[in-house]
Amino acid sequence: MAAVAAAILAANPRNVQAWQFEVAEDRIEVFLDPAREEGALDPFHRELYVGLGCALENLVLAARANGYAPKVTLMPGDPGHAATVVLGSGTPDKGELYQAIPLRRTNRAPFQKRPIPDALLTEMAGLGDDLESSSLMLFADDAGRKKVGTLLIAATEEIVKDEEQSKDGYVWFRKSKREIEQHRDGNIIDTQGLARPISAIGKMLPRQSRSTADRFWLRQTRNVHTATAAAYGMIVVPDAADNACRVEGGRLLQRIHLFATARGLGLGHLNMFFVRSDRERQTGAEPRFTKALAEITGDRGEGLACFRLGYPTRPAAASPRRDLTDVVR
Ligand SMILES: Cc1cc2nc3c(=O)[nH]c(=O)nc-3n(C[C@H](O)[C@H](O)[C@H](O)COP(=O)(O)O)c2cc1C
Repeated sequence: MAAVAAAILAANPRNVQAWQFEVAEDRIEVFLDPAREEGALDPFHRELYVGLGCALENLVLAARANGYAPKVTLMPGDPGHAATVVLGSGTPDKGELYQAIPLRRTNRAPFQKRPIPDALLTEMAGLGDDLESSSLMLFADDAGRKKVGTLLIAATEEIVKDEEQSKDGYVWFRKSKREIEQHRDGNIIDTQGLARPISAIGKMLPRQSRSTADRFWLRQTRNVHTATAAAYGMIVVPDAADNACRVEGGRLLQRIHLFATARGLGLGHLNMFFVRSDRERQTGAEPRFTKALAEITGDRGEGLACFRLGYPTRPAAASPRRDLTDVVR
C-alpha cells in the first residue's frame, strides 16, 4: 500500500488520476480507469497511458525503498491492464529519485534566465538507459527551443478554437474549495504558477468563463511557459500508439521529473502539439502537427510527451489527490 500511496502522487494528464490498483501479497496490478478520460483532448488514451507509466515508476521506486525487488511486465494481457509488478524481496534502496516523490510538482511559473548546465542535461538523457524503447530528446539551443515553443503556441491556439477540446479541458477545472474537496482531482488556481497575491485574488473572484480560461492559458503558454523555458525535453518511442511504449515512456517521464526535482530544476509538462496531432488523426483533418512533429523527431522515433525545464522563480503548489480507498479495488 505504501507503493500505491507513492504511485498516486505521480504526474498525470490534467490530474484526472485515471488509475486503479489491485494489491496482493506478492504483486501489484495497475489498470486504466476508463471512466476518467479527457474526451476530445486524448481520444486514443495516449496521455492516460503515459500517466499510468508515471504512476508505475513511483510504484517501483517505492517498492524498492520498502525492500522489494519489483519485476515489471507491461500490458500483460487484457486491454486496460497496464502493468503487473511482481514484488520479490531485495535490499531497501531509498535513492534520490524515491526521496523526490513527495516533493515533485508540475511548475507553471516563469523560469529564470539561467541556462541548465550541460552535465545535468547529459545525466538526464542517460536516465532511460535501462529501458527498452524510450529515450529523451533535448532542445536547449536557441533554434531548437524556438521551433518547439512556436509549435506549442500554435497548437494551443488550435485547441482553444476547437470547441469540443476547449469544453473537455474546462470540465477538469476546479474552482471553489468545496469543488476541490469534493473531487480531489483536476486543475486548480494554486497550481497555475501565479504569484501568491494573484492566486489569492483569483480565488476570490467568480469562476472564470471557458473563453476567459482559454485566453489565460494561451497567454501563459506564450508569455510564460514557452518564453522562459531554458530547455525542452521530448520522450520519444518507436510507436506512440502502442500502449506498452506509452507506459514505458511515462516511466521515463516521471523519472526525469523526479531527477529534475532532486536537482533543483522546475519542470512543466506541455503536450499541446500531441493533443492536436491525435485530434487530426481522430477527425481526418490535415496532419499539420503530425508532420511538424515527425520533422522534429526524425529517425529518433515518435514523440510521446514533452516538457519545459528551467530554474524556477517560485515553488509549485501541490495538486489534490483522491484517497487510496478510491483507487484500490
Ligand atoms: C501525459 C501528461 C500530459 C500532461 N500535459 C500537460 C499539459 O499539456 N499542460 C500542463 O500544464 N500540464 C500537463 N501535465 C501535468 C499535469 O497537469 C499534472 O501532472 C497534474 O495536474 C498533477 O499535478 P502535479 O504534477 O503537480 O502532481 C501533463 C502530465 C502528464 C503525465
